[in-house]
Amino acid sequence: MSGALIRCFVAIPVSSEIAQICADVARAAHCGRSLPAENLHLTLAFLGDQTRNALIELNDHLEALKRPAFSIRLSGLGSFGNSLHMVVEPDPGLLHLHESVLQCIGRAGLTLQRRRFRPHITIVRGIESALNKAILHIPVPQTTMVVTQFNLNSSTLRPDGARYETLSTYPLQLQGWSGQADDFTDR
Ligand code: 2AM
Repeated sequence: MSGALIRCFVAIPVSSEIAQICADVARAAHCGRSLPAENLHLTLAFLGDQTRNALIELNDHLEALKRPAFSIRLSGLGSFGNSLHMVVEPDPGLLHLHESVLQCIGRAGLTLQRRRFRPHITIVRGIESALNKAILHIPVPQTTMVVTQFNLNSSTLRPDGARYETLSTYPLQLQGWSGQADDFTDR
């Protein structure tokens, strides 16, 4: 087995509706580099560089996970350093999924630096000067997205930005889910 390391993370992909909102808000913010739709996601855990064997073991644990679908909402804009993001409300289903993913990571023998989970979707990177705080007040349309799956992704860093690839997809269970039918996304 190759000893090459794979930079990777576990994340929720966004619906096309949320991707459109992110693009519109990023355009209105008029700063930094807007992320292309295919790079938008909500990170559940950043794993850093891992071996293929470690990822195979993690994949087994993530495949065995049985968590229900849930919905998420955007609640405004925030920034970390030179990036701008959509803040995602900490829905209990999201927090449970995050905890379950961390448990799988632990069972697979991977160690992570434990950081406070601040659910977000980065929409702009590379903001060069101090962020104009007025940007944080750009209105974000109210929308809900049903989360029906999450992914294990690899990340390759390139000069023009990271390139992500889906390594594996894990469905969430719709049975017993009590949200609105029109919340379903087109993913
Ligand atoms: P960010 O969007 O807030 O930068 C892939 O790099 C994903 O993992 C990004 O969504 C990134 O969050 C997240 N991530 C979390 N910790 C990271 C770290 N130490 N280095 C790079 N990405 C990290």
